[in-house]
Amino acid sequence: MTSTQTWDPERYAKNARFVADLGMPLVELLAPRQGERILDLGCGDGALTMKLAAMGCDVVGVDSSAPQIEAARKLGLDAWVMSAEALNYENEFDAVFSNAALHWVKRADDAIAGVWRAQKLGGRFVGEMGGFGCIEKIRSTLIAALERRGLDGKAADPWYFPTVEDYRARLERRGFRVDYIALIPRPTPLPGDVTGWLETFAESFIKCVDERERPTFIAEVRDELAPKLRDASGTWIADYVRLRFSAVKPLDPQ
Ligand code: BEZ
Repeated sequence: MTSTQTWDPERYAKNARFVADLGMPLVELLAPRQGERILDLGCGDGALTMKLAAMGCDVVGVDSSAPQIEAARKLGLDAWVMSAEALNYENEFDAVFSNAALHWVKRADDAIAGVWRAQKLGGRFVGEMGGFGCIEKIRSTLIAALERRGLDGKAADPWYFPTVEDYRARLERRGFRVDYIALIPRPTPLPGDVTGWLETFAESFIKCVDERERPTFIAEVRDELAPKLRDASGTWIADYVRLRFSAVKPLDPQ
């Protein structure tokens, strides 16, 4: 099923600023050099793209959300609406960088092929996404809440959280040399109640329910998650697992 997720920059800034804030280790893995031409794939509102630009990179951002690209352009960024599954660049970039976007891309091989085409020989592909087991408590609770209503919860699931073996095989099949790939459990404190997280990221599930019933659906999921994700101080901690990787398009591809 196609994801019905949409992005509201204001809601995103309120509930999901931590996504870019926690992206700095990935920028360090990229180790961008001044003057490098870099594609930020799934740039969202451009928060991390700005950091790359501030480091002296010639950076282009792409994202499938028009409102997010509008927000990125307001920051003065060179940013374009484009699907990760249909990248439209050739032999142009020294590196492709992607933070917290590729788990929304179900046709992973198309995205990987587009990155390969976009890169110069020797180009780096450095990314981080939800990995196998990511937000499993949230995901299974959402699916179960839909299924209790006779709806197909699995079909509503917009996420692809691969294992190391799966993603490594896809990268290598396209010709990338994988220098690093790992699953990193990262329990993540949320900036507020899990309700804000659900409203920001779980729209594909929420929209399956009749509009009048949505507040009840969200409250039910929240109440079921409370004993699993809320600590003694009342902080909600989401069960994130990251898949982080660094790969290279070799100078002499086979
Ligand atoms: C993630 O960054 O891993 C993520 C974000 C939103 C929904 C699912 C996963």
